[in-house]
Amino acid sequence: AVDISKLRDETGFVTLDSGYKNTGATKSAITFLDGEKGILNYRGYSIEDLAAKATFLEVAYLLIYGELPTQEQYAEFEDSIRRHTIVNEGVRAIFDNFPVNAHPMATLSSLVSALSAFYPDSYDEKGKDDRHIIRLLAKLPTIASWSYKKAQGHPVNYPKNDLDYCSNFLNMMFSLPVEKYEVDPVVASALNTLLILHADHEQNCSTSTVRLVGSSQANLYSSISAGISALWGPLHGGANQEVIEMLEAIKADGGDVSKYIDMAKNAKTTGFRLFGFGHRVYKNFDPRAKIIKKAADDVLTKLGVNDPVLEIAKGLEEAALNDEYFVARKLYPNVDFYSGIIYRALGIPTNMFTVMFAIGRLPGWIAQWKEMRAMKEPIGRPRQIYTGATLRDFVPMEQR
Ligand code: ACO
Repeated sequence: AVDISKLRDETGFVTLDSGYKNTGATKSAITFLDGEKGILNYRGYSIEDLAAKATFLEVAYLLIYGELPTQEQYAEFEDSIRRHTIVNEGVRAIFDNFPVNAHPMATLSSLVSALSAFYPDSYDEKGKDDRHIIRLLAKLPTIASWSYKKAQGHPVNYPKNDLDYCSNFLNMMFSLPVEKYEVDPVVASALNTLLILHADHEQNCSTSTVRLVGSSQANLYSSISAGISALWGPLHGGANQEVIEMLEAIKADGGDVSKYIDMAKNAKTTGFRLFGFGHRVYKNFDPRAKIIKKAADDVLTKLGVNDPVLEIAKGLEEAALNDEYFVARKLYPNVDFYSGIIYRALGIPTNMFTVMFAIGRLPGWIAQWKEMRAMKEPIGRPRQIYTGATLRDFVPMEQR
């Protein structure tokens, strides 16, 4: 890699790379990704190993602090998260005034941004980021569950701190004051796996946004709120909602996948893309999609759920993998292709799929933000090639 910043200072040379397809914006020691070979490691540990053996909070600690926690470190980390799960009632008051049909991602990004108003020490006292890291990890699931409760017309649940991270979230989502609710360990374990698979993915759109906003020394809550907004778009995290809606549309249309393959092959004229297919970096199977596909089979079998869209998804994948358009462009299922099917089996509504992604990605965003600060990176400020008008005279309003 060539460091072109020196070249610019010496010659005025600017590279143009729309979408940063080939531009490295930072050095990072957090996540290794080989898109050609389909490899993904967090801090040197393979995603396959972590998904099978770790808890989400262990992975969060690993990403943020660089090493797997010792038993003592883990106990302290988990305990401090448990003690910060309640969200200030003032934030609740803001939430109460949001419309019942607000998209849960709109609610999430707004309320995370609002947290900075409740914790002014996040911008007043520099260098004390750990408190805010813990607060965010602890409070995001609580805020996320409120959207679901409001949509159901049910009272919100307060966190139960004798439960682990995933079980606590599920309890806040699904328990009702009028009947006993016990978290199904199959559901909690599936959620744990999904959150780990989403926990980091180096310099993707939302993570780059978090680093860019943070590079102006904006506080952690504001930077993460910006990341949540970036994630919402259908070309990024919002794809998981789009995938299920697409699979449902195919089912309602008689289940003929070939028609949709044909539409996607003519994406330029139809404007239709196969959601959950293709990736900026993976030009081979997304290793997360492999794990999620198997998990979808396992979870649906264990829960006794028969979801016809799983068969449609598999049919679509097979048709695409045998089609020269998709083969030539190296378009494979990405992490979002099967994740929605699992979320649905766990009882999570479609409009909350991207919120689930955000809960999973939070440790990655935090780790990348922390790394950016520790490396004292300069403010992010891309250049441009100007294509507008050359200098012209101002025409007063009455002469226009
Ligand atoms: N369906 C049909 N054709 C596609 C698809 C798709 N899903 N994805 C890419 N292509 C085609 C493009 O039309 C283009 O064809 P061309 O060479 O004939 O012009 C070629 O494949 C390359 O696509 P680009 O859009 O240039 O690739 P880019 O790296 O910019 O985009 C992206 C990657 C945004 C993920 C794209 O593949 C896409 O839109 N996929 C669907 C949305 C999606 O699933 N997003 C989730 C990504 S994973 C994540 O963020 C968690």
